[in-house]
Amino acid sequence: MSFSVHNRKSGKRIEVEADETILDAGLRNSIVFPYSCRGGTCGTCKARLISGRVEYTHPPQALSDAEREAGDILLCQAVPLDDVEIEATELAASAEIQIKIMPCRVSAMERVAHDVMVLRLKLPASQEFRYLAGQYIDILLRDGRRRSFSMASRPQSGQELELHVRHVPEGQFSTRVFESMKVKDLMRFQGPFGTFFLREDSERPAILVAGGTGLAPIKAVLDQAIADGSTREFHLFWGVRARRDLYMDELLAAWAERHDNLRYTPVLSEPAADDAWDGESGFVHEAVLRHYDDLAAHEVYACGPPVMIDAAKTHFTARGLPAGRLFYDSFEFAVDD
Ligand code: FES
Repeated sequence: MSFSVHNRKSGKRIEVEADETILDAGLRNSIVFPYSCRGGTCGTCKARLISGRVEYTHPPQALSDAEREAGDILLCQAVPLDDVEIEATELAASAEIQIKIMPCRVSAMERVAHDVMVLRLKLPASQEFRYLAGQYIDILLRDGRRRSFSMASRPQSGQELELHVRHVPEGQFSTRVFESMKVKDLMRFQGPFGTFFLREDSERPAILVAGGTGLAPIKAVLDQAIADGSTREFHLFWGVRARRDLYMDELLAAWAERHDNLRYTPVLSEPAADDAWDGESGFVHEAVLRHYDDLAAHEVYACGPPVMIDAAKTHFTARGLPAGRLFYDSFEFAVDD
């Protein structure tokens, strides 16, 4: 049994199969709603239900009671129970990009910090893999579980994918990366996913906020903007704990040195005694607030742990940033294995 979903905002209609979420049905039909976690926690896929009924595959954690009462739904979890009408934003940018399952081979591994490994994955020459800078893939594990990683490299032909893997002590995959993975190992992944890419229909100054390995998609976005010769203003804030965690500091400083439209501000939350640090300290969102009294004219792209994203939502909107101009990817490190 299938139901139809009509998006009042675009006028488009899609058929949703039994037990399929509206987000998945959209992706199957090249209709892309904004989304990130696909797990009901980030709230990126929030939309308004105008008529009809939906049920949820998992509890919609990202919705408050007030939002549920007002008719908000999460498209990544909502399965229609009859024909429904919704009001939802659609994004054209990634609509033609196909989500695929592909094999890959580890081509290089570099331990760039005590707990961060940069993995490079070589793709089969015979298969094309298209994505937008800022998107992520799911590594498919043998037991059926998945681990999501943003691609830190911009798309290029003959490409390798660059991932930044942080070692989570109880995490099975990241422990494998740090302890037993070798160059030439084979893996499979599915992707690309997510809509954390630069909105190119805008020339507004963009503030990029990264927490730890949340740098990965932001590095890809910046790399793409530089390659495109963008003259848009970018200000990157990268928050980590101590100086030893700034694993790509030199590269980012060199980019900022070469490009007048890019500023780079590293921020340490707990500088070590021997760091001799005279730069920005504290939480990364606090550094943004120290630099910008008024965010009304900006866009913000933020990637990091949920606590950082929550702080960005609260404090940046209080400084005038319209909620629709905060784009974010929120990640939890998986320790459930
Ligand atoms: Fe739906 Fe995150 S809550 S994509």
